[in-house]
Amino acid sequence: MYDVVVIGSGPAGYVAAIRASQLGLKTLCIEELIDDSGKPSLGGTCLNVGCIPSKALLDSSHRYYEANKKLSEHGINISSLKLDVAAMMKRKDDIVEKLTGGISGLFSANKVESMMGRGSVISQNIVKVTKSDGSSEEVEAKNIVIATGSSPIEIPAAKFGKKIVDSTGALSFDEVPKSLGIVGAGIIGLELGSVWSRLGSKVTVIEALDTFLPMTDPDISKETFKEFKNQGLDIKLNSTLTSSKELKNSVKVTYEQGENEVEDEFDKLIVAVGRKPNSSEILSKELNIKIENGFIEVNQHCQTSLKNIWAIGDVVRGPMLAHKGSEEGIMVAERIAEKHAEVNYDLVPSVIYSHPEIAWVGKNENELKDESVQYKTGKFPFAASGRALAVDQSTGFVKVLSDVKTDTILGVHVFGPAAAEIVQQALISMEFGASSEDIALTMFSHPTVSEAFHEAALASNNQAIHIGNKSR
Ligand code: FAD
Ligand code: NAI
Repeated sequence: MYDVVVIGSGPAGYVAAIRASQLGLKTLCIEELIDDSGKPSLGGTCLNVGCIPSKALLDSSHRYYEANKKLSEHGINISSLKLDVAAMMKRKDDIVEKLTGGISGLFSANKVESMMGRGSVISQNIVKVTKSDGSSEEVEAKNIVIATGSSPIEIPAAKFGKKIVDSTGALSFDEVPKSLGIVGAGIIGLELGSVWSRLGSKVTVIEALDTFLPMTDPDISKETFKEFKNQGLDIKLNSTLTSSKELKNSVKVTYEQGENEVEDEFDKLIVAVGRKPNSSEILSKELNIKIENGFIEVNQHCQTSLKNIWAIGDVVRGPMLAHKGSEEGIMVAERIAEKHAEVNYDLVPSVIYSHPEIAWVGKNENELKDESVQYKTGKFPFAASGRALAVDQSTGFVKVLSDVKTDTILGVHVFGPAAAEIVQQALISMEFGASSEDIALTMFSHPTVSEAFHEAALASNNQAIHIGNKSR
């Protein structure tokens, strides 16, 4: 009998399993994914076909773009620049292999057992594991943690095929499509659209909503829309794909843009309209655990209606982010070990790894207005940052929102260099209840792009040094 059986080895599941074992619990992690060579592929979407391979390609494509378009400004001329897509893909695949293999090493070091196969919970304490050869075995568990993640959504207007692909397919094109259509201007659409646009594709993004990145602060939404357009992403808002057809060498699509019906043709079409939780056939109906819109229902501690069955990561409510799943994994392992643990869902950072990056934490202006919170704004443009100018990354700004009465920081929104790292600094300060004055009174190294956060905090109280203040 295991103390803990985790189903799924993504960033939620493998972290839960390692923490549980560190806490002295006998732990098994079940994973169904096998790589092309028949070896177990641990690490879930994040390591295999998500966060890591996409960031590897974002980096490679950015270097290519810089070499192609930017280095001459620095007096560096490359006469015969050549793109080798196969080498780029190999580098990405090597990184994935190293990291997924690393999880097996972490499992051995932490005494987590792993088992290949598809897990399903057939009773409150029994998980059935079906192997790829059709055989099955049952394992007994005091606690079960479901961490089965999510999969790309397929829409009737664009069934996946050879040229119509999901995010996984878009991470493995063997050549740069001359023209690329993307359905959905969400995080995947923008990150992968950036990759292929930098490598030379003419990218058209078809987005159903009439607001760009509605989950971001309105200033970020406005500025980033302009920047993506400048970078060559032709983003069609208020446009819904109605049909698509794979032809011999292309994909023909029709979409409704407002009142108009538009036809277009691309070499490839990426469908990135969101992801759906992997919750079907995981839980026996007799357990009576509720599933709402595919998400397994849990309380704030990721516990289902049965005390010993937990669910974490993309398969439960909240943002579909690796770090959110990992923190839930740690919380659940600690709770199983009867320790006190919480996740602060108010401070989950978000990052879009475009160039410049977009990152935020806490509330944005729209949310504060909806909640009738009285707030003040401190904003600092990277155009006024010495370091940002020196490294040729002066687009964007840092925006700090704080409570009018208490000066407590309520949200930080960054579009610009190292946005993810700056937001992380902000988040740490917010965990400790910082006010914008606390940040203003903190010394920042010069010259760093983080100084823009310092200046934005100073600007909240009309004290910024390197920009003209609002009223004085
Ligand atoms: P998953 O990572 O999906 O892992 C679930 C695992 O469970 C899988 O390995 C699956 O094979 C296994 N499984 C499923 N059912 C069973 C079963 N019945 N039995 C056994 N095993 C099973 N998030 C970020 O935070 N930052 C990023 O930069 C980022 N980039 C992304 C880029 C792309 C292209 C994509 C697609 C996603 C990205 N994400 C990113 C999202 C991130 O990958 C997910 O939020 C994260 O992987 C969810 O973790 P998880 O452990 O809940 O599920
Ligand atoms: P998403 O939810 O971010 O965006 C999907 C977009 O598609 C939305 O703007 C939506 O309005 C649009 N859409 C939906 N149906 C449509 C249709 N029929 N026609 C046109 N547009 C349509 O989903 P996405 O980009 O697929 O990513 C899934 C999740 O993966 C993200 O929500 C995020 O949680 C995670 N992710 C995180 C990353 C990061 O942290 N950097 C990177 C990539 C993914």
